[in-house]
Amino acid sequence: MTTVYLIGNWKQHGSRASIAAFASQWSFEGHEQLAVAIAPPFPYIGELGATLPDCLLAAQDCSIQEQGAHTGEVSAGMLADVGCRFVLVGHSERRVHHGETDELIGRKLAAVQAAGLTPVLCVGEDSAMRQAGEQNHAVRGQLRGALSGMASSVLIAYEPVWAIGTGLTATPDQVNDMHAVIKAEVNAVLGGDSDVPVLYGGSVNPETAPALLGCPHVDGALVGGASLDPGAFADIARSALNSLSY
Ligand code: PGA
Repeated sequence: MTTVYLIGNWKQHGSRASIAAFASQWSFEGHEQLAVAIAPPFPYIGELGATLPDCLLAAQDCSIQEQGAHTGEVSAGMLADVGCRFVLVGHSERRVHHGETDELIGRKLAAVQAAGLTPVLCVGEDSAMRQAGEQNHAVRGQLRGALSGMASSVLIAYEPVWAIGTGLTATPDQVNDMHAVIKAEVNAVLGGDSDVPVLYGGSVNPETAPALLGCPHVDGALVGGASLDPGAFADIARSALNSLSY
């Protein structure tokens, strides 16, 4: 059975009040072939789970350590303990602002899988790479750097850095072409026909979602800004559902 994934990344936004407001306005009938998840900041994971039981829980990052004297860190096991299903790893904001390397991201991915959760590995080229025509090479390198030796229980999110939070969305052709490159590379790295779902992220909104989610190689979306708005996020969820019939 095909599953489409829609994951909201709230980044460093939210409060108890905004979660209550979101829940009161959220009206979306769930569907067994659509997995809708939200990744709030760590302190709100429990609150979100209690307030919005229809949504799956995700986290934005995790530690490579299981436990110990690591001030400020949160382990994948703790995230599993509070009900998370997915953990983002290697988001470009963490690569750029926190110096995360492919090697570290690979270790986080392994930690997430070891805790029984599904990592969402974020990859994507910046605008200089795209302008130089090096986007395929860059993304293949990120995949190889983090995925080697991993199990196939992983989601990939293709998020061109130049499209994140900028209002610039990659065209459906750019996205579909890159997703085909990603699927081929993931099969080469993980071996065989691993059938790993590939989500698109980067300024997805209710207007751009239908065409992007309608692309044959697109298996869902990772949504930042628009996921803070329950009306917009539900519209995108409807587009995700419609894409199942293409
Ligand atoms: P955006 O963010 O939808 O606001 O562009 C996407 C992301 O960073 O995951």
